Amino acid sequence: MDLDSVLIGEDSVIPRARYTSAEFAALEFERLWSRVWQVACREEEIAEVGEFCEYLLGDQSILVVRSGPDTVRAFHNTCLHRGTRLADGAGRFHDSCIRCRYHAWRYDLDGKLVEVVDRDEFEPMPPDTGLKPVQVDRWGGFVWVSLDPGAPPLVEYLDPLPALLAPYQLHRLRMRTYLSTVLPANWKVAVDAFNEGYHVQGTHPQILPWTDDVSLDYEPLGIHSHYGRLPNARRELRPSPRLGLSEGEYDEGEILESFIRGLGGLFYKDERALVEEIRATPQDGATMLSRYQKGRRALLAARGVAVEDFADDQLTSANDVYFFPNMVGPIYPGIAIVFRVRPNGIDPDSCIKDTWFLEWPQEGDVPKRAQRRFFSDWTERDWGEITNQDYANMEHVQMGMKSRGGAGLRLNRRQEVNIMHMHRVIDRYLTADT
Ligand code: FES
Ligand SMILES: [Fe+2]
Repeated sequence: MDLDSVLIGEDSVIPRARYTSAEFAALEFERLWSRVWQVACREEEIAEVGEFCEYLLGDQSILVVRSGPDTVRAFHNTCLHRGTRLADGAGRFHDSCIRCRYHAWRYDLDGKLVEVVDRDEFEPMPPDTGLKPVQVDRWGGFVWVSLDPGAPPLVEYLDPLPALLAPYQLHRLRMRTYLSTVLPANWKVAVDAFNEGYHVQGTHPQILPWTDDVSLDYEPLGIHSHYGRLPNARRELRPSPRLGLSEGEYDEGEILESFIRGLGGLFYKDERALVEEIRATPQDGATMLSRYQKGRRALLAARGVAVEDFADDQLTSANDVYFFPNMVGPIYPGIAIVFRVRPNGIDPDSCIKDTWFLEWPQEGDVPKRAQRRFFSDWTERDWGEITNQDYANMEHVQMGMKSRGGAGLRLNRRQEVNIMHMHRVIDRYLTADT
């Protein structure tokens, strides 16, 4: 493939082949996926020594194992005898050993080959023979892997997100729900759909009466980015300015109520009840929004969530963070939704999307494992109106991008800046020296 033909042009137009071509997907695998850090699982999925998770990426499988109370290892998931995949899904290795299902070669949890049945009938093997390691590290309660033995340290790769997200203490959150599905589009189509608010007016017009989509701010951060009600954004309960309503034509209480109800999963029951309470009691000079923020702070604190380091605005504003290349989602104090997106095998027209609801555990909670639920077709489940609308777009975006009747993608300079930034970072990977 002619690399120049798929790089972003000087006119900032994004070639469509980046989303549709199998050759481009192969290039992306070689130069991007095999070099970046990416989340393989949450730490709590492998809480006990001997527990493992498989991370599938393209046609590769990586095995992540808790090898000791405070050690996690990752390996290429292949037996050194005749190549069999050693484990799939998630589970636990018994007797601290990884046993191949085929001829029963055994490895310890550090990957060392410890038993070869009828060893004397094989050519001698060096004593340190073992599974090929994959780089692994931890941050934010996530286990990250990189297929690149020369990858930079994880904290360097993530910079400046660890500092930005420190108050959220993501490592203390636990997974409440784990849902996965297949979407009929390139992995970037799925990421893009959650990395801008520009489509709200086109795709989710029903939320405009309670969503100020216009005043969202977007900001590249290192190779990553985020958006939301960033420091410069306006903060008040108002509808989208696109509706052209003037003050007096809308009701703050109704907006607050619709907003909390509309984002249902991100607010607890008592936080929803708080809206009614605030609406029912007369104002004492403070705005409804600031009263709600104070109330929510108190409720979260009572739940044990560390809220001291948040400004009032952060109590009702998500930080929508994009971890390059494939994780994005709204983060609130004490609760977060994370979308992890990957190519589905080597097919440029299909991706796997995992949705993780993470929440601050209540004191005294017995840690429960989230059940993994998989939907091979997204239409098998009702994801809620907003997400259903996003998913319904996917096949049309993917199909339309293949048309011979279009040039490249033209992005909005402000509201789609995070998507442009992603493409520029992808180009850096594609053109980096190998
Ligand atoms: S392939 Fe694993 S023991 Fe034979
Ligand atoms: Fe959307």
